[in-house]
Formats: sequence, C-alpha cells, structure tokens
Amino acid sequence: MSRPDPTQAGLTTLPQWQALQQHFAAIGPLQLRELFAADPQRGERLVIEDIGLYLDYSKQRVDADTLRLLRELAVACALPQRIEAMFRGDKINSTEGRAVLHVALRAPATEKILVDGHDVVPDVHEVLDRMAAFSERVRSGAWLGHTGKRIRNVISIGIGGSDLGPVMAYEALRDYSRRDMTFRFVSNVDSTDFAEAVRDLDAAETLFIVCSKTFTTLETLSNAHAARAWSVAALGDEKSVAKHFVAVSTNADGVAKFGIDTANMFGFWDWVGGRYSMDSSIGLSTMLAIGADGFREMLAGFHAMDEHFRHAPLEKNLPVLMGMLAVWNNNFLDAATVAVLPYEQYLKRFPAYLQQLTMESNGKHVTLDGATVDYNTGPIYWGEPGTNGQHSFYQLIHQGTRIVPCDFIGFGQTLNPLPAQGGGDQHDLLMANLIAQGEALAFGKTAGEVRAEGTPEALVPHRMFEGNRPSTTILAAKLTPHILGTLIALYEHSVFVQGVIWDIDSFDQWGVELGKQLAKTTIAELVAAHEPKLAHDSSTNALIRRYRQLRDDAISGKA
Ligand code: F6P
Repeated sequence: MSRPDPTQAGLTTLPQWQALQQHFAAIGPLQLRELFAADPQRGERLVIEDIGLYLDYSKQRVDADTLRLLRELAVACALPQRIEAMFRGDKINSTEGRAVLHVALRAPATEKILVDGHDVVPDVHEVLDRMAAFSERVRSGAWLGHTGKRIRNVISIGIGGSDLGPVMAYEALRDYSRRDMTFRFVSNVDSTDFAEAVRDLDAAETLFIVCSKTFTTLETLSNAHAARAWSVAALGDEKSVAKHFVAVSTNADGVAKFGIDTANMFGFWDWVGGRYSMDSSIGLSTMLAIGADGFREMLAGFHAMDEHFRHAPLEKNLPVLMGMLAVWNNNFLDAATVAVLPYEQYLKRFPAYLQQLTMESNGKHVTLDGATVDYNTGPIYWGEPGTNGQHSFYQLIHQGTRIVPCDFIGFGQTLNPLPAQGGGDQHDLLMANLIAQGEALAFGKTAGEVRAEGTPEALVPHRMFEGNRPSTTILAAKLTPHILGTLIALYEHSVFVQGVIWDIDSFDQWGVELGKQLAKTTIAELVAAHEPKLAHDSSTNALIRRYRQLRDDAISGKA
C-alpha cells in the first residue's frame, strides 16, 4: 500500500519534514540544561502516564515546537489512517499481500476482525483454548510421556520470531513460572546448542515443542530431527514421538511430513509476522511455564496498549510519541543506534528480542513503492541490563563522539527483595543507578564544575561530561505478565509508527533470503567427496578450501 495521498512525492519533500529540518537547525545547539532551566516543570510536563506505564521523555532534545512539528509530520504521513488500516485487517504488508493482525491475537472474544470477510477472533480463541487445555494436562501430570512418566522438561525448538519472544518471555516471567519444571530453548544450527540443552535430561520426561511458522526453516528442522533421533533412541520406540513432540506452525502438511500428528499441532496464521508472534501459539512454552491464566493476563496487557494506541490522541499516545522521537533522533540528531537498558535482571533477553522486532521490521532501504529512500531508516537496537552495562559500554554513551539515545526501563518493586548494606534494599540501589544515569547523560559536568572539584588542569578535559545526551525513562510498578504485554506492545507499535513515517514495509524481511540461498550452494560444496569446481569470488573459494582442509585434518587426526 503506498501513501494514501499520491501527491506526496517523498518524505524529505514534505513541507512538514522541511519544517522539522529548519527547526532542527534552530534547536540543534540547544542544551537540555537550558531547556530544563527555562521550564522548571519540564520533568513533570513531558511525561505520559497511562495503562500502568510512566514514560518520561523530558530528557529528549525536543521542545514544544519539535513535538508539534513531529505530530504534523505524523498526520501528513497519514499515521492515524494507517493505524486504522492495520486494525481493520487491510493488507498493509504489501510485498507479501498480507494483513498485519498481531492485535487480533489479544483481542477479546467479543471483538470482530475480518480478514477476507472471515472473522479471525473465534479462531484465535479456539487455539488459545486448546493451548490452555494442553498446558493444563502437562502441568497437572495428566499428559504422560511414552513410558508413563510425567513431563518435567520442556524444550522449545525454533529460531528468530519462533524463539526470541518465547525465550525473552520465559526469562521475564520466571518468577511466575513452574519452578519444578525445566524450560530450555534451542535455536542455533550449531549442534552445541542442542547437545547442551539435553545433556542432563531424561528423554522420558522431556517434551519438545517444534516452533516454526513455515516449518521449512533449516535450523529448526535440523534441530527437530536431532531431537527426534535423541528421544527415539532413548525411548526405543518411534511411537514415542506422539507423546514427546508437539508442533506450532501455519504449515500442517510440513508438520505431518515431519511425523508429528496434526492433532498435536497448534496453529496460527499468515497474518501474524514471526517477530510479532510470541503471543500466538508460538508462546506455548510461555503458557506451560506460567499457566493459562498468566498467559491471558499477558494478552490483556498487550490489548490495553492496542486500545491505547488506537484511541489515545497523538499527543498522549505512548507508541506514537516513542516512534516519533525515534524518527527525530534517527533522522535529525543523526543517532544511528538506540540502547535499551532494562534495570531488571528478568528482562535480560529483552534487548535481543527487540533487535529482531525493530531491525527485521525497519531495516529497509526502499519505500512501499520500491523507490530508494534518501534518508536513514531503522536504527540499530542493542542493550544489556543495568547496572551491568554501566561497567562495560556506558563510557562511550557518556563521553564518546556518537549520540546514543537510551531507553531506561525500571520498576517500583523488585520480585526478589534483599537488604542492602547501609539501609534500603538492593532495589533502591538499582533504581538509584537508573535515575542517576539519565541525569548524568542529560546534564553532564562542565569544565568549571570539574575544576571546582580541584581537578588538575590536564585532567579537566578527560573528566568533563558534555551532557545533552537524550534518554527516555519508562517506569512501571512491578514486572507482571500484564505489564510485560503492555511493554512489548509499546515497542511493537512504536516500530509501526516509524515504518509509516519512513514509508517502508515493516512486515516483510526479504533481506534474510540471499544468505539462506547462498548457504544452500555452499553446503553442497562443503560436503562433496572431492573438492568441486568453485566459481565464487577468490575469498569465498579460499574459505571453502580452508574449511574443508581444517575439517578433514581434524577428522583424520592431523590437526
Ligand atoms: O529468516 C528470518 C525468519 O524468516 C524470521 O522472520 C522468522 O521469525 C524466522 O526466520 C523463523 O521462521 P519460522 O518460524 O518460519 O521457522
């Protein structure tokens, strides 16, 4: 789908874009110190608090005009209409001719969402109910393995969107999970990943969930075959597959061909993108870990953000604000990356999850019409939990030559309180660090302040902080399944907002194809009995030869 108004030739020619450029030329040198000094209430005004989240964007390098101009750009790019088009089920993933309806995965049963005239909401709830019944049987011990033992280990096999969401959600919600069960995740085609996952497990107590939207993904099928071989070898009976393997896929034929009874398959639909699928049946491991009620709480959290995104006015709309600030930082401040810094150990895999969500979605170089863009699109997302990152890469964020906008995420309460030396608890220490980092980034420390501390003159440049480094702080009361859903949906919709402004298809991923295609040729060349005639570039040819030699020497004991 191209921009609704065909007179809009391109983003950078829009008067609203040009107005932002002129505005940036004026505001560019402005310091956060000055913005705060001029408006003592800024830290309370530039905040949105809704649906359990408190989002402080006062430390972004924006003023009232910036925010107004960004909203005008959003309107010029038909953002409100594009939001409606997504929720209506229009085929906004134009290069794949698909609707984009992850919002339907968390819609209450009373809603109606049509895809090609068919209401998909009852289908979603039918699968959810089957997942709940299955999870209950496994968790209660009613579902037994082939030898009559109950299932104590669950291994989810998948990659990309069929792995990163489930891993992140399991880690995030560990505190709510069944502690008497083991949950592991296998994604890499590197056989070490599978070997380490099963090395101490009893196959008689182990259930595999094979997760693949397409059921054609090389890594997942390789690992699923390895799992079946391991399980059948231990249990001594092909028939054991029926009790130890279930599948999550849109491809029933592929599942049946692999040898999993489709009665043990949980479906989803082509209108759910892989990276937007953790709240579909791809989240079966999450439901097994936290139970059906916990999973439904998480869905309710997603849905609360969906409703907010659809109905809140632009100026109070959390994903719209976050998305537009991302555009501002990316295209005007020229910040190439965003650091996501959760001060919550349970969110340790959140940055990795966001990497696929953001970069597979918005790492595109052509518009919906196929024209090459003349502006930067998706920034690089990365991050680690605080406070660990502080002792690693924060140096560059504070004093390096690049601007790295930061998203700080923290909670009012820890799920694991421990007393700290000197009063308070360790959670207060954690949050003191989060708050202090945003302050240090924004306001820095001037040369005068450094000198006033008695610093020798030669060290003054080294010890000063120029500040003016933007950050957003997101706070919530406590990490719960509900708030996790809300937080994920915040980023999902922020990614959508950015994609609308950049006029790209945030829901395809053609960029992953070339490497997959070339690997097929390469594998044949690696496994050929004699070195085949190689017709790649000289580097690729040499690497193939060198690998064959290293492998053959290692196998023959020469190495
Ligand atoms: O190669 C990228 C990708 O297609 C992702 O978009 C997707 O999440 C992942 O592979 C896994 O795909 P599948 O679920 O079909 O195995």
